[in-house]
Amino acid sequence: MDILAIETSCDETAAAVVRDGREIISSVVATQIEEHRLYGGVVPEIASRRHCESICAVIAEALDKAGMTAADVDAIAVTYAPGLIGALLVGVNYAKSLAFGLGKPLIPVHHIRGHIAANYLAHAELEPPFLCLAASGGHSHIIEVSDYTSFRTIGRTIDDAAGECFDKAARAMGFPYPGGVFIDKAAKQGELGKYHLPKPHTQNPYDFSFSGLKTAVINLIHNAKQKGGEIDVNSLAACFQATVSEILTEKFIAAALEYGHKSIVLAGGVAANSGLRETLQAAADKNGIKLYLPPLSLCGDNAAMIGAQAFYEFQNGNIADEALNAVATLSIDS
Ligand code: KG4
Ligand code: ZN
Repeated sequence: MDILAIETSCDETAAAVVRDGREIISSVVATQIEEHRLYGGVVPEIASRRHCESICAVIAEALDKAGMTAADVDAIAVTYAPGLIGALLVGVNYAKSLAFGLGKPLIPVHHIRGHIAANYLAHAELEPPFLCLAASGGHSHIIEVSDYTSFRTIGRTIDDAAGECFDKAARAMGFPYPGGVFIDKAAKQGELGKYHLPKPHTQNPYDFSFSGLKTAVINLIHNAKQKGGEIDVNSLAACFQATVSEILTEKFIAAALEYGHKSIVLAGGVAANSGLRETLQAAADKNGIKLYLPPLSLCGDNAAMIGAQAFYEFQNGNIADEALNAVATLSIDS
């Protein structure tokens, strides 16, 4: 089954053709990051307008690279939630028109389910059940995936998401938006242990809290500036990245042990972080747990991951009609 998938939930206009949920036939991502960088974050109105301008060309390119026309695909899939409402609406309306014009099924996909499914494209043997840590610009969730379309959140951030914390700390350190990748690079030159940063406590042991850590970084920089002191940005990046990696790893592994999962999966933009990948791999090995990491090319937003999840949503009978609407906030739980 060949699915044409469309993703426009944030600042990437993306389209892909995916076969049977597991094979990428083509994948095209047009990013708007350079434009949003001027404002230090994604400007929703600009994102919607750029999606409108790019979507036809991006879909045409994905079909062209697959050597297909829209008539050749078996279904159209689209991210309908969660995300920026104006941005989502561009993809949803395009997908609706295409599906009904061609008389093909329309498959609605939850963005975070897509991030998790990115792993199916890279690991042929991966099947639920498993425990997942989804860490992106808007999410830090520990999710039990009992089947391809059955999800249960067992922990989540009570304030900032991990990616948001990376981006805000990066901004304070003077890096451009989105700063996660710049912290990752700087951390490689830094000295671990030079700065002490807090690990916040949460009532539910599997919840996360990152706002205190973000504030600690901002205060540290602010205080140094006031005293005319110097901050060693590389070392601060290294200590910050190590702290975030330890917080995510400790809770994720503890949850895997308590819930009896021998397979765990990392997903979302923050899954690209080299420190997190290493820390998590070491902890998984120590505890005899098999860790699946998405390839770097599939960590950030893309449509291939949406096409992968769509295959399983379709098999589960999750097909939309013309009443499908975009939803800005929606739990992943089923
Ligand atoms: O999944 P994603 O592309 O978009 C959302 O659905 O939010 O995640 C974007 C987030 C941003 O906060 C970005 O800074 C972060 O992922 N990110 C990273 C790295 N690459 C992307 N954070 C830490 N280290 C990285 N290498
Ligand atoms: Zn995402």
